[in-house]
Amino acid sequence: LSPLERLKQEVFQYSSSNISTKRVLVAYGTEYGFSREVAKKIAEQLSQHFGKDHISVRLLNLLHWEIVDWKREELILVACSTTGDGVLPNEAKDFYDGLKEKFKEGELQNLNFAVLALGDRGYPHFCRAGKLLEELLKKITGREAFVVRGEVDQEDWPVIEEWIDSVLGCLDNHDLLTCMENGDYLEASLEMKVGTNSVNGCIGSTFPNVGYSKETPFLAKILEKRLLTKYEFPDDKEVLHIELDLSSSGIQYIPGDALAVLPKNCPRQVQRLLVALGATGEEELSNSDNSPISLKDMLTYNLDIKNVKPELLMYLRQCAYSDNDLKLLDDLLDVEKGGLSKKNGVLRGYLASREVYDVLAEFSSASVDLQKFVEHLRPLSPRYYSISSSSLVNSNRVSITVAVVRYELLGLDRVGVATTYLADRVDVGSKIPVFLSKNDNFRLPSAGSTPVIMIGPGTGVAPFRAFLLERERMGSTGRNVLFFGCRHKDRDFLYAEELQAFVDRGFLDLFVAFSRDQAKKIYVQDIMLEQSAFLWSLLEQGAHVYVCGDGTKMANDVHEAWIRIVSCQKPDCSREEALEFMDALERNSRYQRDVWI
Ligand code: 2AM
Repeated sequence: LSPLERLKQEVFQYSSSNISTKRVLVAYGTEYGFSREVAKKIAEQLSQHFGKDHISVRLLNLLHWEIVDWKREELILVACSTTGDGVLPNEAKDFYDGLKEKFKEGELQNLNFAVLALGDRGYPHFCRAGKLLEELLKKITGREAFVVRGEVDQEDWPVIEEWIDSVLGCLDNHDLLTCMENGDYLEASLEMKVGTNSVNGCIGSTFPNVGYSKETPFLAKILEKRLLTKYEFPDDKEVLHIELDLSSSGIQYIPGDALAVLPKNCPRQVQRLLVALGATGEEELSNSDNSPISLKDMLTYNLDIKNVKPELLMYLRQCAYSDNDLKLLDDLLDVEKGGLSKKNGVLRGYLASREVYDVLAEFSSASVDLQKFVEHLRPLSPRYYSISSSSLVNSNRVSITVAVVRYELLGLDRVGVATTYLADRVDVGSKIPVFLSKNDNFRLPSAGSTPVIMIGPGTGVAPFRAFLLERERMGSTGRNVLFFGCRHKDRDFLYAEELQAFVDRGFLDLFVAFSRDQAKKIYVQDIMLEQSAFLWSLLEQGAHVYVCGDGTKMANDVHEAWIRIVSCQKPDCSREEALEFMDALERNSRYQRDVWI
């Protein structure tokens, strides 16, 4: 299928041919594909409930928001995930910025809307992206949402169903939609968009106005790949500096942005899974657009073979026949424990320590239908790496800093998909599919005279290398202070020489914590506390604070260090006031975090 046909198929799959029906837009903003699944469910239920001849439901990836004539829409349902530190998925960012810029308050007064926000309570800023979208829709429509915003913690289907029910109930009771002449403007704009395609060094084709994406990435040549660490012993870190060629891509990045890489699965891991399936890999299956594809290609290029969807266990329950397997599956999926929902701690714990292969090997009595099996796997998602270079130094190049993940689980070797793809399966000269992910929540201060405090242990230093290169090129006069941490001074001190050169030029104040060079661990937060008075004086001068790196512990520990610094240094300041001080700093974009789990 051509890109246009594929896009049409997705948009119009629930649409009727009747031209005078009620029209609804179901839009999704997704990072890993779950919101898309949810949006499909919403679309399906709407067309079932009202009947295909009475309602025309179009499914839209927010990435393609520009094809919609927003003034002619009457009803939109949005399912949107939250990612990173409470931000919109990459593919929905343009929609948010674009709508905000394009429409004045109350301008879309005919548009009814409702938002289903998806998120994970384990992270800060639960469902923030959905909340932001709802705020924006409120503003530009001058209306309230017609049903209360749904908030979904992970993959909590009962909450999703409940929200869909309230939408249907509300549409039954209120006439929110006039019968419009459907027309085919959306079809026409789709064609316009795809018609003006340029096939410029990228896979398939691009939508010129929306740039490169997961569907249409840019193929970037690897220009350089070098190891930044000593990697000899099992305990050593393996961190790579990778430079890519962006010339002819038109991609323009600024410090704080990330580069998304679309990886392929490791052939050894794919092979392991094929053996467990009793398959050769040559078996022909069909893609979601019905095009044929071999099982091996599907598992290599399209699907996530690490993270197990709970629904896969439900499916195995249907195909298993040994008493043992059935008993264990029943126990895991027990309704009393919460079934598939996230409240089922036993199920969650089980899945957290297993990959798809392990589950198949465990329930070996299940004889699966290959097509159905692949339909129970998640799509393979892009991985995002903070950019560690400055386009002011060379606009044709971009660099990323990658810590390679290899470990053992249940007695077998396991790999980080994208990190080992970059380390083992591509080399200088290879071309890899990438796209740019903007990050407006991690930006240098606009004034070069503003001091910056950067805290980035491990590969968290990546965006700060970009910050320093950029600020030096711009001739910024503000002070640059970096707290870096690693295990050993002589093994994994990333960019040590470059950082030292910044120090020697008088451009950087560098503080380092080597956690394992002495008996007692020393972390970045420990050396921050030693600099309390200095850090406070910088805050008083209006410094912006940045934290990048591990979000499970480091970011919280560093936050706690800030609370202690502020409460000790600020005159008469209680802990509560220090908390509020940091919150205010965050609200004013002077405390920005780019963290990952
Ligand atoms: P460790 O591995 O010796 O515990 C980069 O990964 C550096 O961050 C390492 O030196 C690592 O130390 C350190 N690190 C681990 N946990 C941390 C935490 N909670 N706060 C700050 N740094 C941490």
